[in-house]
Amino acid sequence: MKLIHISDTHIGRDDNTLRFERVVDDLLAHPPCAPEDCVIVHTGDLIDSATDTHRRAARVLLDRLATRYRVLLCPGNHDYGDAISLDEEAAETFQQTFRDYIFQGKPSSFPVLSEVGANHAFIGLDSNAEELRFWERWFAEGHLGEAQLSALDRLLDSPVVAGKQVIIYLHHHPFSFGYSVTPDVGDRNPLYNLFTQLSRPFLRLKDAYSFSQVVRDRAQVLLFGHMHFGLDCSGESRKYGIQMALDGSSTTCAEDEADRMRYRVIDLADMSYTVRTLKLQDDRGKINHIETVA
Ligand SMILES: [Fe+2]
Ligand SMILES: [Fe+2]
Repeated sequence: MKLIHISDTHIGRDDNTLRFERVVDDLLAHPPCAPEDCVIVHTGDLIDSATDTHRRAARVLLDRLATRYRVLLCPGNHDYGDAISLDEEAAETFQQTFRDYIFQGKPSSFPVLSEVGANHAFIGLDSNAEELRFWERWFAEGHLGEAQLSALDRLLDSPVVAGKQVIIYLHHHPFSFGYSVTPDVGDRNPLYNLFTQLSRPFLRLKDAYSFSQVVRDRAQVLLFGHMHFGLDCSGESRKYGIQMALDGSSTTCAEDEADRMRYRVIDLADMSYTVRTLKLQDDRGKINHIETVA
């Protein structure tokens, strides 16, 4: 079983729609696995802001992927609003628009369990769940909340998950690696640097500690996005008995102004992964170079 991890596509911002189109083209033209042996997980910030235009563009692209792959999606903060705050109505609209990818035909509640084959249990979470009230909704933090964590706890104990490889996916990152990655002096805009320096400690999951206590020794893979760093956090997750934890970066490199896109292909059998990197040739979006890094 292989898992393709994409994240933070921010469709609608700059030329990200074109960039994600090229990623979709690549996944359809060069599938890394057979359809029955492959799942795509998108860990949120599918769109850049909660508008009909962005949702429509994203729906078209996910539907193209779904002609070839099973696609699982969890919501990010931008999907429910924008970079600054979340909106309850936008959250409802996003869940409705993408309910087949988020809830997989199940009732509309989190956590979402998707059994894939006989041996894999994928569990999707909403890390915006407790962020929708007025005093909570600011500055792109994440908060799963007690109700969702209790439900996750019960799910991980249930017979339907027992003995399976468990893959948990959510948008906000549960580890503190962001503290140690800071912009270089003179890199980018000084105001942006100041903001990110000051805000990074607050951008992670508010209840990261409680989450780590629920999932420790009970899952094999954790997938998330949000910070666009693309780091392998497995060193941190192994402290909690979780073999692999990956930040999916931004598949479209939404904030890099770079000419590349990327995604990971994870082999769940031997717990290894490769990174596939695509580069744009010009502003018409033709791909001129593809590299895969082990
Ligand atoms: Fe993002
Ligand atoms: Fe985010």
